[in-house]
Amino acid sequence: MIKKINTSLVKVVNILSDGEYHDGTSLGEALNMTRSAIWKTIKKLQNYHIKIDSVKGKGYALLEPLSLLDSAKIKKKLHGEKCDISLFESIDSTNAYLKSYRNNKGTKICLAEQQTQGRGRLNRDWHSPFGQNIYMSCLYSLQKDISELAGLSLVTALSIVKTLKEFGMDDQLLVKWPNDILYDGKKIAGGLIEVHAEAHGLSVVIIGIGINVNMMEDEQQVSQPWISMRKALNHYVDRNDLCALLINNLFNYLQRFNEHGFAAFISEWMAHDCLMQKVVTLKNLNEKVTGKVVGVNDHGYLLLKLADGKVRAISSGDASIVKK
Ligand code: BTN
Repeated sequence: MIKKINTSLVKVVNILSDGEYHDGTSLGEALNMTRSAIWKTIKKLQNYHIKIDSVKGKGYALLEPLSLLDSAKIKKKLHGEKCDISLFESIDSTNAYLKSYRNNKGTKICLAEQQTQGRGRLNRDWHSPFGQNIYMSCLYSLQKDISELAGLSLVTALSIVKTLKEFGMDDQLLVKWPNDILYDGKKIAGGLIEVHAEAHGLSVVIIGIGINVNMMEDEQQVSQPWISMRKALNHYVDRNDLCALLINNLFNYLQRFNEHGFAAFISEWMAHDCLMQKVVTLKNLNEKVTGKVVGVNDHGYLLLKLADGKVRAISSGDASIVKK
């Protein structure tokens, strides 16, 4: 089910974001809402698992920092390409939402505070709790044939790495082919690319990006070791600033990819590649192959040196490091 962002929810959170107690009457007066409407909004936030303390005579207070996404704040910080932003309180998946726009040529961004059916690569679940992280998809047209798009996953991963580094993350931030982003060996972000080929060398793509930003708990709901920016940086991260920077970087990388292809990104990829010189087993639908990673080629294929010394370029799959 799709829910547009509710403005009272945002307004209540804006007041509570100072971490102080605010009673129902003063919240109601400030926001021109009844006490019962305030109470319903608080309940709604609690149903989204936002921790709010409620004390008789004092009012309500957030127990954890929280600020919600605001498309106007994000738009103000965008430079360059014009784009339309749709923001949802809750949605099944931001990638799935943009599929209905795939015949549009214009760029479109979809953001959500929660995804009920967030998807990762290989049809894995993508845990998407309310208000904590970034769940963003971008509809984009590239002047490329479908056969030239293998490097797009890698370029997306590099744009995420650039963004997180600009937010103060250090050199423990690495990429794992084709588009995992790891910090200290744990998953912090990932991309999911869906391609809708079109005629005349033009491809419409949906680029889904998930970043673990302020998530602190829910370990049991995520199947692989993970970390969030807040855990790594030791402070709460402003998601509006992060989103704006991510969109600016993504557009910049996509333009360069459109003009020069993946070849322009090889050295940046190599500088962040956690698989380089490692022996890995790569599984895809057709086969399982083991070899030493010696780089990536101009298309973004993984280069594996096999036991017989030959180097093979592999276009898709899931790589795991072989333990010695
Ligand atoms: C992965 O690493 O497996 C890719 C994760 C991609 C998750 C994002 S969140 C926004 C967009 N909507 C989805 O359902 N998935 C992507």
